[in-house]
Formats: sequence, structure tokens, C-alpha cells
Amino acid sequence: MVPSPLRRRVRAALVGPGWHRAVPAPLRRALGAGLSLADTSAWLAESGVVASHERREDLYAAVRDGLADDEPLDYLEFGVSTGASLRWWSAALHHPATRLVGFDTFEGLPEDWGKVGAGAFTAGGRVPDIDDDRIDYVVGLFQDTLGPWLETAPVGRRTIVHLDADLYSSTLFVLASLAPRLRPGDVLVFDEFGSVRNADHEFRAFRDFTTAFGWSYEPLGATTAYKQVALRVAR
Ligand SMILES: C[S@@+](CC[C@H](N)C(=O)[O-])C[C@H]1O[C@@H](n2cnc3c(N)ncnc32)[C@H](O)[C@@H]1O
Repeated sequence: MVPSPLRRRVRAALVGPGWHRAVPAPLRRALGAGLSLADTSAWLAESGVVASHERREDLYAAVRDGLADDEPLDYLEFGVSTGASLRWWSAALHHPATRLVGFDTFEGLPEDWGKVGAGAFTAGGRVPDIDDDRIDYVVGLFQDTLGPWLETAPVGRRTIVHLDADLYSSTLFVLASLAPRLRPGDVLVFDEFGSVRNADHEFRAFRDFTTAFGWSYEPLGATTAYKQVALRVAR
């Protein structure tokens, strides 16, 4: 069908390098964040995740208690900073053969996270001082380090992936890179799933990953207002 002149004009106004002037960047961001919150809410209603934990450590403990204590695990943390969460997991995972790997530049966020500027959460370039020789640090941008790490990393263990990099770009990169390694039973823990100020980051990365890769999940739990969410990979 040949489009009418009016249709052609409407199409040219909407699809082309002009429409964005009618919807300036701050408004686009606000609309995007509002829509992401609505998408998060719709996903939560379907998923059956229950926000029954007050603190993130309570959620971590529930995740840990759901895993066998007599089998060595791989715990991969993306976004370590000064090591608050890695320290918790190091103390909570007792098997001597469990491996913990912390990925970070240790120089803070590589780009702005909404109003939180690039460089936030820097650890001054230093890895945390945690007394646990099962921990390895992989220092650098995930985009530079994760591919080479995966080429030599041992596989086959139950894996907990802790996603605490805040950013859409970082979270989506990690999920897509780890996809070939993830197995049913592995666990994903998100730290900013239900972020209000930056709703269009971790949740959106998860949603886009799920859409592209077609995985499904079982809910494990969440903290108040779904800030942190834990899921078990079902397929
Ligand atoms: C919120 S902090 C992590 C907090 C930490 N898990 C805790 O509980 O204290 C986010 C971290 O993600 C790191 N980060 C974000 N994107 C990254 C990327 N693409 N590559 C490497 N590090 C990244 C930042 O350097 C920062 O240290």
C-alpha cells in the first residue's frame, strides 16, 4: 500500500532526527524511568517474588541456606567496591573449596548512574583487605576482563552471581557474557532491581536479557520494596 502524503509526513516527523526535539533528554529519561517502574511492577506481579526480607543480608542468608553446604560453589560478584557484600559472602560460605571471585575496576562507576556521577563507589583502586585466600580479584572493566576470564575459568559448579554494578550497560554485559555458563539451579542476586531513582538500569538489563535469551526463573526472595531480588535459573 502506498502511504498517503499525510501518513508520510507523520512518519517522517516521528522516525528521523527531529522528533527528539519535542521530547527533550530529561523528559525522555523521566518517562523511561516511570515506564521501567511500571514494567518492574508488571514483572513482579507475574513472577511471584515476595519481599519478605528487611535487610539484604537476610536475603543473602536465605539464598545461602537454600544451597547445599557440603558442595563447593562458585560465587561471582560483579561490583565489589570496598567489599561490604563480598566480606559477608566470604564469611557465610564455608566450604574450603568454594571459590569467590570479585570483578571491579575498584575505581568507581565507569559512567553516570542517573544523578550518581561516574567514579562513585570508588575504592581508590585498591582491592578490599579480606582475610580469605579463596578470593580472587579480577581487576578492570568487565567488558575487558570477563571474556578472557571465562576462557580459562573452570565450569560445572553451582554458581551464585551477585550483580551489584548498578548500571544497565554493566549488568546486561555480564548477564549476556555469562549466559553460556549458567545452568538451572544457579542463582542471580540483584542489588538494585527495584531502584526508584534509577529504575531503568538493573531491572531493564535483566528484562532485556530475558527477552533476548528466553530464560525462565524461580523467585527466591526480595527485600522491602524489591530493592534486592534473588532468582534461581530454571532453564
Ligand atoms: C555499588 S558498588 C558495589 C558495592 C558492593 N557490592 C558493596 O556491597 O559494598 C558498584 C561497583 O561496580 C563497579 N562497576 C560498575 N560497572 C563496572 C564495569 N563495567 N566494570 C568494572 N566495574 C564496574 C564500580 O567500580 C563499583 O565499585
